[in-house]
Amino acid sequence: MAARYPQAQITGVDVYPIQRRVGIPPNVKFEIDDVENPWKYPDNTFDFVHARSLAGGVRNWPALFRQVYNKLKPGGLFEMTEIALNIFDFDGKFAEAEMCPEFLQICRDLYKEVDMDFNPSPHVPDWLVEIDFEKVVQRSEILPLGNWAQDEKMKTRQRLVNKITNEDYCTLDNHCGLLFQKGGWTKAQYDALMPDFWKEIYSGDIRPYIRA
Ligand SMILES: C[S@@+](CC[C@H](N)C(=O)[O-])C[C@H]1O[C@@H](n2cnc3c(N)ncnc32)[C@H](O)[C@@H]1O
Repeated sequence: MAARYPQAQITGVDVYPIQRRVGIPPNVKFEIDDVENPWKYPDNTFDFVHARSLAGGVRNWPALFRQVYNKLKPGGLFEMTEIALNIFDFDGKFAEAEMCPEFLQICRDLYKEVDMDFNPSPHVPDWLVEIDFEKVVQRSEILPLGNWAQDEKMKTRQRLVNKITNEDYCTLDNHCGLLFQKGGWTKAQYDALMPDFWKEIYSGDIRPYIRA
């Protein structure tokens, strides 16, 4: 985005120092901060606010959206993408699989325990409308998981989803790992659970997908 719009000033925020240090375009700066803290910028500052994959790190979504609304200029745009920590399937076989429902039930129990909404998407349009955002649009995409996609478009998505769920999201340091950590799981407990879960996902017997 920075390269496409060199005239724009872009600020990236994360609570951890995950940002690249080299090869950053000159119109980008990064800040380490919790987005739930009061933003240090005056109201009506930004043309565009983008948030991606924050679920698990936000306690009060409406309060965050209220800040977004206030900091956006009139006519500004807010875009948000979340992948729900949930798995669906086309054939109903998923519910009969051994590990998968157990894994999701553990996740649901942990959501309650840590009192955090890991799947805000269904509520987001209502929250935004209540805050006075106009022209609210929600789009949902199927992202195949495992080993069943047929056409090229779905195969490309499947490759990316397998990569991010395995390598980026479902290690103990990230996303669903974050949930397990907050719920008091040790690395040994988590590592013992995951191989059987992934074996079932990749077996080809079921056609699971996640949703963005
Ligand atoms: C799954 S990663 C997504 C990273 C990046 N947003 C992206 O889409 O590529 C989730 C990131 O959100 C950050 N995060 C979660 N809660 C946050 C919060 N309240 N304030 C700032 N960053 C937060 C985490 O530190 C983590 O780096």
